Amino acid sequence: MSDDRKIFLITGTSRGIGYELARYYSRDHMVYGCSRSQPDTDGDDQFNSGNYHHTCLDVADPDAVEGLFNTIKKSSKNLDVLINNAGTYADLLAPLFARMKGDAKARAVADIRKTLDTNLLGNFFFSSQFFPLLKKNEGGRIINLSSIAVPLKLVGTSIYAASKAACETLAQVMAREFAPKVTVNTVGPSIVDSEMTADWSEEKVRETLALLALNKKSTVADICHVIDFFINPRSAVITGESIYLGGVIT
Ligand SMILES: NC(=O)c1ccc[n+]([C@@H]2O[C@H](COP(=O)([O-])OP(=O)(O)OC[C@H]3O[C@@H](n4cnc5c(N)ncnc54)[C@H](OP(=O)(O)O)[C@@H]3O)[C@@H](O)[C@H]2O)c1
Repeated sequence: MSDDRKIFLITGTSRGIGYELARYYSRDHMVYGCSRSQPDTDGDDQFNSGNYHHTCLDVADPDAVEGLFNTIKKSSKNLDVLINNAGTYADLLAPLFARMKGDAKARAVADIRKTLDTNLLGNFFFSSQFFPLLKKNEGGRIINLSSIAVPLKLVGTSIYAASKAACETLAQVMAREFAPKVTVNTVGPSIVDSEMTADWSEEKVRETLALLALNKKSTVADICHVIDFFINPRSAVITGESIYLGGVIT
């Protein structure tokens, strides 16, 4: 990527991958981050809090997204990079759903709605709302977080994988709608150690990774490498693409 100081907006920065992305990019760039809760940066010497501004919001609330847009517009003339990282995971076997009753069914339905609202609607609201600021700069970039669950069609991930497939479709359609000023691409990690995967059994992790040519978890450094590639000024002709990590061969 170029050495220029850029302005980033990253969703889902209170923990996990988003926190690490905010930490990495705030070293040399200005980063706006958001999530429903605050990140805990106390004692993290690597996190340049001086370059980081947090807003607490739900990405699936279009009015809150518009409010953030108005705030950023007042202080920054443009936006260089939007990373749609906020996401949530629903683990649900479709054949079991029909047998669910009462509270268990209500919880499953709430999880389904939360997953679609966060992963699909949140992504759409942010990309659409911030396009006017991204297009002011000839090299505006949007990167969506997808997952290997999309190409691998992992059992138990129908809702999650469908929501991430939707993120890829959003990227492809918006790649056309936002051309030529803003590119829109996705990066799909394999398993990353975070709260999202903390309760996965060793067996589930092993079986999932075995489907990959490299049989490896992803790191945030791997993800940053792909994002750095997408945001490089020389990547201006790369749009509507998805890059998966770990060796997805279908
Ligand atoms: N971990 C993996 O193995 C893996 C693999 C492939 C792809 N991904 C994708 O990578 C992204 C980050 O995952 P992660 O592992 O870092 O997950 P995580 O540890 O659960 O963190 C999710 C982040 O998203 C925020 N978030 C969730 N719902 C939100 C909402 N409605 N509004 C605003 N912020 C919200 C959370 O903050 P609050 O709770 O404070 O709102 C948190 O900061 C997700 O899109 C995920 O699908 C993860």
